[in-house]
Amino acid sequence: MRLPRVPAVVGLLLVALLLACSRQSDDEVRTSTDVPVTASYIVTRPPSYSKDIQPLFDRYCVKCHGAKRAEKGLRLDSYQHTMAGSKYGTVIIPYSSAVSLLLGGLERDIMPPGKAKLLPNEIKNVMFWIDGGAPDN
Ligand code: HEC
Repeated sequence: MRLPRVPAVVGLLLVALLLACSRQSDDEVRTSTDVPVTASYIVTRPPSYSKDIQPLFDRYCVKCHGAKRAEKGLRLDSYQHTMAGSKYGTVIIPYSSAVSLLLGGLERDIMPPGKAKLLPNEIKNVMFWIDGGAPDN
């Protein structure tokens, strides 16, 4: 009796899973004192919009949510635009990351679309910033 062959798709899925896992564990946790420029660290002080958050939006979001192209009317190229939200309403509720649409999109891996995703540390910094009241600092 011949054993059924494991379909190639299953093999591919396993490889993809392994790659996904190894990517996660490679994410090193850095502190603000180690790397002051890249904003891919977990901050050890209340996050600053201009130093920690806007650089992330500039890197990952502004090409679709900026002056030239503003998907759903949402611009993330300045504090004022970010807080103004999209054509449907606000995407950041100060002190409440849990109900902030923007953070939900990051955590559920919806935004940004494509391969360049925020590191877990970077998502945490956005969360800390919102839960600290989303100040313009
Ligand atoms: C490649 C283009 C692209 C990039 C990059 C991108 N977005 Fe989006 N974004 C979209 C599109 C398209 C939509 C509308 C999706 C829909 O309604 O189905 C959207 C919708 C959103 C919405 C929902 C707005 C609403 O009120 O419905 C949020 C919040 C958002 N994006 C946040 C972000 C954040 C934060 C980043 C960066 C981390 C980002 N996006 C990067 C294309 C992009």
